[in-house]
Order: sequence, then structure tokens, then C-alpha cells
Amino acid sequence: MVTICEHSHKFGLRENQTAMTDPSSVLRAEQVTKTYQMGSVEVAALRAVDFDVQRGEFVAIMGPSGSGKSTLLHLLGGLDQPTRGEITLAGQPLSQLSDDEITVVRRRKVGFIFQFYNLLPTLSARENIALPLVIDGQPLDAHAAHIDGLLDLVSLADRGGHRPDQLSGGQQQRVAIARAFVNQPEIVLADEPTGNLDSRSGAAILELLRRTCREMQATILMVTHDPRAASYADRVVFLKDGEVVHHLGHNGKGNSIEAIMDVMAGLEL
Ligand SMILES: Nc1ncnc2c1ncn2[C@@H]1O[C@H](COP(=O)(O)OP(=O)(O)O)[C@@H](O)[C@H]1O
Ligand SMILES: [Mg+2]
Repeated sequence: MVTICEHSHKFGLRENQTAMTDPSSVLRAEQVTKTYQMGSVEVAALRAVDFDVQRGEFVAIMGPSGSGKSTLLHLLGGLDQPTRGEITLAGQPLSQLSDDEITVVRRRKVGFIFQFYNLLPTLSARENIALPLVIDGQPLDAHAAHIDGLLDLVSLADRGGHRPDQLSGGQQQRVAIARAFVNQPEIVLADEPTGNLDSRSGAAILELLRRTCREMQATILMVTHDPRAASYADRVVFLKDGEVVHHLGHNGKGNSIEAIMDVMAGLEL
């Protein structure tokens, strides 16, 4: 079990805003719209997207290439701003925060997992995992046992000293997962985390995400175009041309690949 809770009392940037009507909602998108301006042409990447992620859920957003998944994840994590609509993260409406405040929210409340791992090549696995703590100015000595626990969680206890180029793709992604959880974030956002892996390494990553969610009460939002990956989630939200077009699940049992593929066929995804 991961324990770095001593800092949690400092996380509330605007304490008066943290009392939401639905306290179990970790992340909420309301009418989120994103339009990119390409010269004289407007590209509508997201159109009035609404959804909600509850504490402890593993939610997949499923959609074909170009449906707006990465755009959505960037907005949800405060890496970019919507053209219209509101994103509320851990009770804080992002539109009401300054850039500096959003940076702090992102650093302390959100973990990111990307398709290509995004590890720093000159750092060891252990140092990569610790990086969010270092950036946050926290003393590493205090967290040595915590990082050991994370290396253990991702089955890399004997690889802590290895650099990324000394690890397989699946192992690198497991380091990235440990890094995403090091700050005990409110939510982990994963963009096609198995997109660069063979099916066996990919399955191990998805199993690890699901286990982390169940055993550590973590909250995970994963975007993917792969029905197999989506089948590991408790709930699946379908995105097409920047719009939410269908929901599946919410029964805590996940969804079969067949059920997901049926929806995709029906929606012509
Ligand atoms: N920075 C950008 N500038 C202009 N158009 C973009 C930009 N990022 C994404 N888009 C467009 O927005 C749409 C959604 O893209 P994206 O979110 O990357 O989809 P996905 O991750 O589902 O493949 C696509 O039509 C894409 O071309
Ligand atoms: Mg993408």
C-alpha cells in the first residue's frame, strides 16, 4: 500500500471550492468543446462532451483514430484549455484557476501514462519513478520505502537501477505506471498505454492497471482505440467525431470484448 498522505492537507488550492455536490466525483467534464484553428479552417476536435469519473473507477474512453481522445485527455489533465465548457478536477473547476495553480493541481493530483512511456533516458527506473517528487521539491530520503513499494507493485524490484534503454517496452511502461502513482494522484490519465506493446506485455499492463484500481482504490481514465484494452475497464465511454455516442457497463464486472465490438459495429466505429 502506498502512503504519502502527509502532504494531502496542502493540496487544496481553493478549499472553499472543494465541496462539490457529488463528493465521489473525481473528474467531471461538462459540455467540453475544443476547436482548433487551422489557418482559416476550424477543426472541431470535441463537441459538448459530458461525463463523470467516480472515485475508484477504471473508465475507458474508446474511439477510433481522430475521434478526439488525446485532445480530451490533455484538457482533462490541464495540459490545454477547452474552447468552451468546464472541467472539474478533485472539486476544482479548472477555468477558475491560474496557470500556476493548474500546474500545481496537475503535479499533485494527476498522474499521466503515455503510449511511448516518456521516461527520461539518462535516469534509472527508480529515479524516473521519483521524478514527480523531485519536481515537487519533496525530500527523496523520506520516500525511499515508498518507491521500493512501487517497484514491487510493478514487479521491477530487481530493476530499479536500470536505465530505460536497459528495459523492455513493457518494463518501461511499468516504470511509467509507478511514476504516475508516486504522488498518490486523485486520478491517473492513460493515453493508449498499450499502443506500443505486443499483446502479452499489453495484457500485463492492463492487468496491472486493473489491479491497482481495485487494490489501491486508485482512479484511472484510459483512452484507447483497442476493444481488448477497453474490456479491462469497469465502464466504457464511446467517442466518435468528438462526441460521446454511447456508454457501456457500470456493473463493476468490466465488459466483454464482444459487447464492445458489437457497440463499435452498431456505431460504425
Ligand atoms: N494541435 C492540433 N491542431 C489542429 N488539429 C488538431 C490538433 N490536435 C488534434 N487535432 C485534430 O483534432 C482531431 C482529434 O485528434 P486527437 O485528439 O489526436 O484524436 P485521437 O487521439 O482520438 O486520435 C483530429 O481531427 C486531429 O487532426
Ligand atoms: Mg491519440
